[in-house]
Amino acid sequence: MNSLTTHDVPPTQAPNRLLDALPITDPDLVARLRRRLDQVEQRLLDVTHGDGTHPAAEATGHLISAGGKRLRPLLALLGAEFGDPSASGVVDAAVITELVHVASLHHDDVMDSAPTRHGVPSVNAQWGNTLAVLTGDLLLARIARLAAELGEGAVRLYADTADRLVRGQLRELSSPPGPEGQPEHHFSVIADKSGSLISASIRLGALQAGAPPEAERALAAFGEHLGSAFQISDDLLDITSERTQSGKQPGTDLAMGVPTLPVILALADTSTAATSAAATELRDLLEYADLSEEPARARALALLRTSPALDQTRAVLADHLRRAHACLTPLPPVPARQALTTLCDALVGRTS
Ligand code: FPP
Ligand code: MG
Repeated sequence: MNSLTTHDVPPTQAPNRLLDALPITDPDLVARLRRRLDQVEQRLLDVTHGDGTHPAAEATGHLISAGGKRLRPLLALLGAEFGDPSASGVVDAAVITELVHVASLHHDDVMDSAPTRHGVPSVNAQWGNTLAVLTGDLLLARIARLAAELGEGAVRLYADTADRLVRGQLRELSSPPGPEGQPEHHFSVIADKSGSLISASIRLGALQAGAPPEAERALAAFGEHLGSAFQISDDLLDITSERTQSGKQPGTDLAMGVPTLPVILALADTSTAATSAAATELRDLLEYADLSEEPARARALALLRTSPALDQTRAVLADHLRRAHACLTPLPPVPARQALTTLCDALVGRTS
């Protein structure tokens, strides 16, 4: 099974890369998705730097061309399969989902002064913060314009999703409650930062295709679980992966102090003398050691890899995936339902 990662796909990837990695059995569906994803790609370029020559147009074009595996447009197109996938506005719905994703990562990079994204210089690094802020504003304006053309439902969904993305980011910045409240805090952050847009993507496709409201609701709930599962599997990969598997050195989040579920659970586990001692040593390493240095990072990874927190994290992931599958059960058995099931299975494949 090919493995998937949520971020850091190298540049110049063809937009169909994720589609190619999924064993979708229906050839007509694959051909339709491939055609539509090509249209999405063209539209993304038209919408961002189609008008030309000003520096923000160049920067938005840079963001679109820098890569990304186009998961959200693929989800929007799959959502549309539960209605009329050829309905007008389906491609633009898919375009909106990718633009919101790109805009949110771009804002994240400005906030973090990140030097790169997808292996190429970030807009803030290449053009500076003033242009980066205006580029973000331009993206949001273009999204609003596209959504307005689709109608009130699309505008509302975009507004609600952007609201959740911002609140998720704000909550991540706020001090979490004591150790016992940290898992819940983390779950709510990932639901808003990851689940909200994954859910909105599939929902917007269904909405534009005129899918029945109960299908739209089931797909939205599926997306919430898939989104949280994606983030938790990323959290797991930071601890369990070999560099070649994820494209990212294990312990990268750990070294940067990014809270991940295995770390949060390991720090909170004082149920036995062994887990208590491991939690204390891990806390000391996180507080006092330089985890960008190999010996300290290797020790922290060893503590986490032998911690019950790893299996607890896998159980949370499995629960999200089980619930995602359950959301699909009442939907009609169109080929897109098998494709969505396959997406979940691909997720398990990369972390098991
Ligand atoms: C990346 O997280 C960030 C997000 C998934 C969401 C960021 C949201 C905002 C900045 C709010 C603004 C939203 C809009 C719509 C403009 P990460 O830092 O965990 O992932 P990374 O390792 O890929 O940077
Ligand atoms: Mg970031």
